[in-house]
Amino acid sequence: MAVVVPPAVVAFLGAPTPDAWVDEAAGRVAEMLLDHANCELKAASTALGFLYRYPDRSNLAQRMSRLAREELRHFEQVRAIMSEMGISFKRLTASRYAGALRDAVRDDEPKKLLDLLLIGALIEARSCERFAQVSPKLPPKLGKFYGGLLESEARHFEHYLAFAKTECDINVGELDGRLEELKGLEAKLVTEPDPQFRFHSGVPA
Ligand SMILES: [Fe+2]
Ligand SMILES: [Fe+2]
Repeated sequence: MAVVVPPAVVAFLGAPTPDAWVDEAAGRVAEMLLDHANCELKAASTALGFLYRYPDRSNLAQRMSRLAREELRHFEQVRAIMSEMGISFKRLTASRYAGALRDAVRDDEPKKLLDLLLIGALIEARSCERFAQVSPKLPPKLGKFYGGLLESEARHFEHYLAFAKTECDINVGELDGRLEELKGLEAKLVTEPDPQFRFHSGVPA
């Protein structure tokens, strides 16, 4: 099954996933699934975070509520596949990727909201791209599942980016400038050597 990364996702990301990560992931499926399950849980929690932090923003709140449910469904699906494969679930500490992006969020509003939304867009876009890259190298059933997730994550990427443009009251020039900075950081994190293998890790060190 040919799996194509949506052109908007390719254009958005600062750098493609290195082949070395894809090869590593294909050989470490159990570890990838465990981290992936953790990522889906974190994605649901991140979506809920917007509801708590910005309760008066109705459009954002409704979308994030639905997003949280969808990510929880992904979490359930990944856990079911793990059970079938005899892989037990446990919570993992934050990856270098998640930690560094979280540290980049500025404290003052509306910059904080802008950063959270742009980083959300980047994480969703990267996840989409990696599902596409790795799915042809996986056992057929898992590869098909990843091919389906890719469409969801592409949609999530579009939602996060659209909210960054409509919810923050930040002009286009400033938004684009900040987006370029965050794209650069994200691209570094996925292309530089990384001692730890995760779903969003860099080149295996
Ligand atoms: Fe997801
Ligand atoms: Fe997502």
